[in-house]
Amino acid sequence: MLILSIVGARPNFMKVAPVMRALDSLGVRQVLVHTGQHYDANMSKIFFEELALPEPDIYLGVGSDTHARQTARIMTAFEDIVRQDRPDLVLVAGDVNSTVAAALVTAKQQIPLGHIEAGLRSFDRAMPEEVNRVVVDHLSDLLFVTEQSGLDHLAQEGIASQKIHLVGNCMVDSLLAHRDNALAAAPWESFGVSPQGYGLVTLHRPSNVDDPSTLEVLLRTLGQVSERLPLLFPVHPRTRARIADAGLPMPPGLTLVGPQPYLSFLGLMAQARLVLTDSGGIQEETTVLNVPCLTLRHNTERPVTVTQGSNRLVGTDPEAILGGVEAVLSDTWQRAERPPLWDGEASRRIAEVIDAWRS
Ligand code: UD1
Repeated sequence: MLILSIVGARPNFMKVAPVMRALDSLGVRQVLVHTGQHYDANMSKIFFEELALPEPDIYLGVGSDTHARQTARIMTAFEDIVRQDRPDLVLVAGDVNSTVAAALVTAKQQIPLGHIEAGLRSFDRAMPEEVNRVVVDHLSDLLFVTEQSGLDHLAQEGIASQKIHLVGNCMVDSLLAHRDNALAAAPWESFGVSPQGYGLVTLHRPSNVDDPSTLEVLLRTLGQVSERLPLLFPVHPRTRARIADAGLPMPPGLTLVGPQPYLSFLGLMAQARLVLTDSGGIQEETTVLNVPCLTLRHNTERPVTVTQGSNRLVGTDPEAILGGVEAVLSDTWQRAERPPLWDGEASRRIAEVIDAWRS
């Protein structure tokens, strides 16, 4: 049996690494394809090293472009691989363009497709990731779900229940496996801050960073927050470019740093007083770490992080953001309860499902 896994962008790596490791125990042959959607060393190579992902067997080198061009380039290159290798199963993760491109090719080649992190829905089709999620789920034969809402959505959309498996969250498998090492490295020291003495910021959603007036309001609000708590801001290349294009001034308490490696970011997150983010995965990671998370979006495809976790949607309104920060600093924030099956064993469950499916 041959299983082909595909990764492309930063949030794929920590999901696929533990699954490939778990699949090793099945004695199957595995091939790893990297599309090259993310290509800078600090967005890709360093994650392979830290997560002990094997070197990709095939690197497509597609790079950045418009959605259509990027997706098309991945599809064209990936089709040749699939036609040649004829894998028994293709595994994709999450909701990035590499995921949907590989899923379309796999389905048209009539090869079984497994989707890690299926069923999540923000119901906001302005997010490219939402379009990707819906398409990939409807093409998949094995749907690996992280939280109850995913089961509910897939049932509502008429996807056959025998394809759907609630397995938990394999990004949490990586987090729990690496947390101690991440803390031992004390990454905050190199930024001159101490545990619980700083906030951590990430921003990269097009809806937040592509419009200069929205970005300006967010930076100004972060500046106000940083008067009370120093903020570290590892900046995504998209955001750095937008800040430069708009010529926006940087508030003094907001320290911009480059994209962080996996272990450094995990350590910084674990000891932050609070996190302000528009990322999807970070809402989940902060829930497991029980770190207050203010999500700078109006919706989330990961509602369990709000109902059970430490996440609150504050949107982009300065008053709401500052009110959230106040609640954290005055210790009136909801403590996180870890969602069911977010226990470090999700990848093992995925391997078990695949083992049962093949026999
Ligand atoms: C992508 C995903 C998003 C995910 C994010 C994590 C899609 C539609 N979006 O968004 O869901 O949350 O990754 O980071 O797949 N760039 C570099 N170096 C790189 C990669 C990108 O400089 O290694 C720059 C390029 O200017 C590029 C821009 O970042 O145009 C955006 O990259 P892209 O992969 O298109 O989308 P992300 O914003 O990273």
